[in-house]
Amino acid sequence: MTLLIGPTLRFDGDPMQQPWDDAVRIDTDGGVLMASGRIVEVGSGATLLKAHPEAAVTRYGKTTLICPGFIDAHAHYPQTAMIASWGKRLIDWLNDYTFPEEMRLADPAYAASIAARYLDLTLAHGTTTVASYCTIHPHSVDALFEAAAARGQRIVAGKTCMDRNAPEGLLDTAQSAYDDSKAMIARWHGQGRAGYAITPRFSPTSTPDQLAALGALWAEYPDCLMQTHLSEQIDEIAWVKGLYPQARDYLDTYEAHGLLGARGVYGHAIHLEPREVDKLAEVGAALVHCPTSNTFIGSGLFDMAGLTARRIPVGLATDTGGGSSFSMLRTMAAAYEIGQLRHAPLHAAQLMWLATAGSARSLHLGDCIGTLAAEMEADITVLDLASTPAIAQRVENAGDIWEAVFATLMMGDDRAVEDVWVAGVQRRADAQLVSEGWR
Ligand code: GUN
Ligand code: ZN
Repeated sequence: MTLLIGPTLRFDGDPMQQPWDDAVRIDTDGGVLMASGRIVEVGSGATLLKAHPEAAVTRYGKTTLICPGFIDAHAHYPQTAMIASWGKRLIDWLNDYTFPEEMRLADPAYAASIAARYLDLTLAHGTTTVASYCTIHPHSVDALFEAAAARGQRIVAGKTCMDRNAPEGLLDTAQSAYDDSKAMIARWHGQGRAGYAITPRFSPTSTPDQLAALGALWAEYPDCLMQTHLSEQIDEIAWVKGLYPQARDYLDTYEAHGLLGARGVYGHAIHLEPREVDKLAEVGAALVHCPTSNTFIGSGLFDMAGLTARRIPVGLATDTGGGSSFSMLRTMAAAYEIGQLRHAPLHAAQLMWLATAGSARSLHLGDCIGTLAAEMEADITVLDLASTPAIAQRVENAGDIWEAVFATLMMGDDRAVEDVWVAGVQRRADAQLVSEGWR
């Protein structure tokens, strides 16, 4: 048994649907008891200590917060080495920076090194689970699932499928996308902590035949997730309309090919038409907000308030490397800023929920990760709420604990990650471990 003692973050409900202070609480004298990779009990640190004197105890200070590990619901691990590339909007950014880098993952050794680097970087930023696109190369999928298994991490990933409008070296076909994805499902889906997401990149890089083949595959494996992009930029939407003249709107390109469902996870979803919102709400599909990406690539302002009012599940994500950071703290800050521009600022409690339980729910993993509660898998991130002099001086002046937490959400980075536990195993977030790889 392992016992963590310190302030803990507790979720009693969904702060996007009810007052945040009914749904989220911080227990300043908290404790989390873990055994065999799972949380056994969450409660008062003193009471748990008394009841379990045999437990190995790790005490965190008063200015820390024991949270569920962060969950990045949409990322592209192959883009790790080209994050923060200057000056393009979506289509040129893909052609000039993204596709050339993704071609480099044709080399299995390079793919393996990027997968390891990516998981080390994200763990150092307190992210314990990602839902990542891979490249079209099946070995890029193996690389990420193997790297996650080596670190004991829960992960969602899939082979990115593209059979048009990409360089020759990054194209598959409708049939090979189906066959390769099917083989990857057999190899990885449900193995340990791995889940497979069928992954057409987006409608412009798939023919209708390829979308239909992947729709048929999803019908064969309905417990897989399906992840793709939706309505990210105005130019992209115009391109989709030209490529699919029959479609009523962007979502219809997926819907018409069996790629709309409750286990569908649609990234960005900024410029939606009313029919699309109605349809997403009707089927219970999830959207993923990628705020640093949306400002970095110049895509637009996600309508968090409007979409959650329709009870559409929303997760939060970096969209590495369209996003400009590996950090879910920086991502929460960007979500706050976009909320401000839409005159609907999110509270720190809502931001923390989106980065953990909200993302978990969008990936249909809410019953195993994203919340500190008995029987959940023990993926835990411990934040230092005074990690830099700039944040520490603000915290000294904080009127309550939420003011202190908010300062770290707005100003924190990997230095704010004091510790990380993955399935109950300590992965202390220390720079040396990162550079050596946490194996
Ligand atoms: N749309 C299609 N592919 C991508 C990608 O890799 N990143 C982003 N941000 N949008 C996309
Ligand atoms: Zn993306």
